[in-house]
Amino acid sequence: MSNKPVVLVTRKLPAAVEQKLAESFATILNPDDKLYSTEELLELAAGADAILPCHTEKFPAETIAQLPARVKAIANFSVGVDHVDLEAARQKQVIVTNTPDVLSDATAEIAILLMLGAARRASEGERLVRSQQWKDWSPAFMVGRQITGKRLGILGLGRVGQVVARRARGFEMTVHYHNRTPLHPDQAGNAVYHASVEELLAATDVLSIHCPASPATQGLINSERLAMMHRDAILVNTSRGGVVDDDALVSALQAGDIGAAGLDVFNGEPDSIHPGYRQLDNVFLLPHIGSATVETRDAMGFRAIDNLIAIFNGEEPGDRVA
Ligand code: DGY
Repeated sequence: MSNKPVVLVTRKLPAAVEQKLAESFATILNPDDKLYSTEELLELAAGADAILPCHTEKFPAETIAQLPARVKAIANFSVGVDHVDLEAARQKQVIVTNTPDVLSDATAEIAILLMLGAARRASEGERLVRSQQWKDWSPAFMVGRQITGKRLGILGLGRVGQVVARRARGFEMTVHYHNRTPLHPDQAGNAVYHASVEELLAATDVLSIHCPASPATQGLINSERLAMMHRDAILVNTSRGGVVDDDALVSALQAGDIGAAGLDVFNGEPDSIHPGYRQLDNVFLLPHIGSATVETRDAMGFRAIDNLIAIFNGEEPGDRVA
């Protein structure tokens, strides 16, 4: 019989990650990648010393309260931890970790893709080609905007935001940002600090959202703040849908109060997103794939394993968030 601690893995992980996990732990895997209900999750957790979930599994206070006493840790396969009630975990002395850094490059790539897709009307263009409705070329056909040389506003110049800023400089964009406090120039580079979100919005042609979802950022981009943006402005979100008020954004896009949006994350994802987005031509939509590269998904898994190994060796895990 194995004395290895048991880890409940809630989704199918890359093969290399599952293999590596099995070197140090006994595993309860999910080879069919089924999305568990809370009841199923709790039932499976009864046989586990730790859980390795994704953001698709929710751990509100009620669920954390029902976790068996033997569950010592929730080692997330995600950087975002808004799906876990961290305070409830602290109270129950369940350690919570995440996987920062390793997905910054992949997520920054998607942010740039969204900027370009929204600015250059990629959804519309692709639909025309696929539906065989592309019949002509003219100087007025499918004219979009360039991002080159524009002002990029980064809301939350953290790990991902800093990579986006570096990539954007390749497009000769000038970088502006808002954080609660200004960063040291080592991290901010020549990015211009704005003390308020409102000030940032007014100074921005392309807004890229990178702040985490939290009660403080819920619905932060609302109708009042959207009204502060330029009529041609582009809004890009690779963080979490909750930061944006969807009714307000859909109305602003419909009315032409802002130019376009590129969204990888949504309230109600995957199947209950705001229906207005599906009807609009001036949005470029992706299905939450910011970290979806082979390289990054492996690295996220290895990082979660490192955290678990530290926890079960009685050490402080590198990425503890609670
Ligand atoms: C993250 O890591 O937070 C990504 O959004 C996937 O969950």
